[in-house]
Amino acid sequence: MEEKALKHTNNIKKTKMIKPKILYYGTPVILLTTLNADETVNISPLSSSWALGDCIVLGIGLDGKAFENIKRHRECVINIPNASLWEHVERLAPYTGKNPVPDYKKDNGFTYNKEKYEISNLTPISSTFVQPTRIVECPLQIEAKVTKVRIPEHSSNFAIIEIKAIQVHAHEDITINENHVDPSKWNPLIYNFRHYFGLGNEVGKTFRSET
Ligand SMILES: Cc1cc2nc3c(=O)[nH]c(=O)nc-3n(C[C@H](O)[C@H](O)[C@H](O)COP(=O)(O)O)c2cc1C
Repeated sequence: MEEKALKHTNNIKKTKMIKPKILYYGTPVILLTTLNADETVNISPLSSSWALGDCIVLGIGLDGKAFENIKRHRECVINIPNASLWEHVERLAPYTGKNPVPDYKKDNGFTYNKEKYEISNLTPISSTFVQPTRIVECPLQIEAKVTKVRIPEHSSNFAIIEIKAIQVHAHEDITINENHVDPSKWNPLIYNFRHYFGLGNEVGKTFRSET
């Protein structure tokens, strides 16, 4: 049925087989805060995540500081920047909190720096239920606990981190009613094949939307 419909449209796009080096196909950037061994806080920019209910899943490289920290201290905060914060995120991009810098990162231009708040010019604030700090400038901050860490069967470079959201904090000016985020006010920073984007205009909403 579907095939037939496709055959009848004049609009069939030609495809070609490609082998992109990365598959960052357009997901929100998050700034993950984790606890260093000396109880200072590391910030890691990430974009591999999804959320459903109170379950959040992250994809994190095994050779980074975030992974080392999460294995030792199973708490974190998922701080979600809006589009206007992209330069703060990009300031963090060439650094790792890992010392010595792993070979793969060294070969790709990363250097060590653990002063992530200073580098990014972002501001810490205490969390309510976990030890890693929240980032004041991020309109959404999700305190969370790590429930499971596993390695995908077909790849040994990354971990799949399962996380339970414990407490969501939202800037008041992006909220509507008691417990909703106003989608017309919230403009997440999107990582689109290594370029930063905000959102365009609204094109519609789902039947279950309450706002
Ligand atoms: C916008 C952006 C998105 C990124 N997404 C991811 C990701 O999803 N997973 C990952 O492991 N690294 C990702 N990286 C790379 C990490 O930020 C990088 O490895 C960094 O060194 C991690 O810091 P850390 O080693 O101190 O944890 C991303 C980088 C940027 C700038």
